[in-house]
Amino acid sequence: MKIAIVGATGEVGRMMINCLEEQNIKPKKLELFASAKSQGTTLYYMDQPLVVKELTEESFRDSYDYVFFSAGGGVARVFAPIAAEHSGLVIDNSSAFRNEEDIPLVVPQINADLLNGYQGIVANPNCSTIQMVLPLAVLDRAFGLQKVVVSTYQAVSGSGHSGIETLEKQRRGGILKGIYPEIIDLNVIPQIGVFLDSGYSSEEEKMKFETQKILRNEDIMVSATTVRVPVIYGHSNSVYAEFSKQVDMREATRLLGDAPAIQLHENSYITPLAIGNSNDAHVCRLRYGVDQHSVSFWNVGHNVRIGAAANAVNILVAHVKAYGKL
Ligand SMILES: NC(=O)c1ccc[n+]([C@@H]2O[C@H](COP(=O)([O-])OP(=O)(O)OC[C@H]3O[C@@H](n4cnc5c(N)ncnc54)[C@H](OP(=O)(O)O)[C@@H]3O)[C@@H](O)[C@H]2O)c1
Repeated sequence: MKIAIVGATGEVGRMMINCLEEQNIKPKKLELFASAKSQGTTLYYMDQPLVVKELTEESFRDSYDYVFFSAGGGVARVFAPIAAEHSGLVIDNSSAFRNEEDIPLVVPQINADLLNGYQGIVANPNCSTIQMVLPLAVLDRAFGLQKVVVSTYQAVSGSGHSGIETLEKQRRGGILKGIYPEIIDLNVIPQIGVFLDSGYSSEEEKMKFETQKILRNEDIMVSATTVRVPVIYGHSNSVYAEFSKQVDMREATRLLGDAPAIQLHENSYITPLAIGNSNDAHVCRLRYGVDQHSVSFWNVGHNVRIGAAANAVNILVAHVKAYGKL
C-alpha cells in the first residue's frame, strides 16, 4: 500500500503518523509533504527516517492508494482534486469539501457504508462534531434524535500548532493576542471561526450541517455555541438532546456502554487532561434533560486523535476492509 500525508509536520499530520503506526499499518511507500518551510525535516515512521518534501503539483505524479490532507482548506481545494486524479482515496481533514453533496462525510462507526466502492475525496468531519455524533448516533437509532443544543469547550490545539504557541507565549507573560481575537490564557473566547449573517459562527454552522449530514437527517435541529478555552489538547461538549421516543435511561446506558469508540463513565466524570491518548469519544454525566424525551451529557474527545487523525486513519482501515485486504 502506498500512502502520502500532506501537512505531515502539523499537529494532525504528526498524529496521523502515530495513528498509522498504532494500527500497525506497514505501507510499501510513505511520502510526507508540507510547505517549502519544512522541506528537509526528518520525521520517523516505525523508527525509519523519512524526509519531508515540499508539496507541488508534481507530488502526485506517483499514484498513491491513500492520500491524507491536513494542510487547511486552501491547500486542499487546490491539491486534493489533483491527488484524486492519480490516487485511490483522498482523505481531507479540512472543511473544504464537507458540504459538497457528492463528497462523503465519514465517521466509520456510523456511515462506513459510504466507502463501499468509493474512490475520490472523502471529508473528515469537524473535531467537535465527530466526538458528539458518535454517542448521538447510538441514541438516534434507539430513540429518534430531533434536537441538539450544544456548547463546546475547545482546546487551542484545534487551531493547529500556532494555537498552542499562542497560549504558551501568553502563559509566559506575553501580551499579544496571537491568532485569537482576545487573550486566551486565563480566559474563554465565545468565537471560533467567523460570524455569519445568522449570528452563528462558521464553526457553529459546521456542527449543525455536519451532524445532519452524518446522521442523514436534515430535520435534526442543532444550535451550537463554540468556545475556545485555554486547554492544550481535548475538546469538551455540553450536550442536550431531544428525541421523538421516550428515552429508557437503562437502555441508553447499555447501548452507549456497548458501542464501539465510546467510553461511558457512569457515576464519575472525565476531563480533557484525563483522557490521555484515548481515541474514543467519552461520555459522562448522562442524565435526563427537561423531561424523559431528552438527555444531557458531558462529552470529551482528543481533538487531534478522534477529532482528526484517528478518524482519518479509521476511514483508511474501513475502506481497505471494504475491499477485503489490508
Ligand atoms: N488540530 C485539530 O484539532 C484539527 C481537528 C480537525 C481538523 N483539523 C484540520 O486539519 C488541518 C491541519 O490542522 P493542524 O492542526 O495540523 O494545523 P497545523 O499544526 O497548523 O499544521 C498545518 C500543516 O499544513 C502544512 N501546510 C501549510 N501550508 C502548506 C502549503 N502551502 N503546502 C503544503 N503544506 C502546507 C504545514 O506545513 P509547514 O510545517 O511546512 O508549515 C503543516 O504541516 C486543518 O485543515 C484543520 O482545520 C485540525
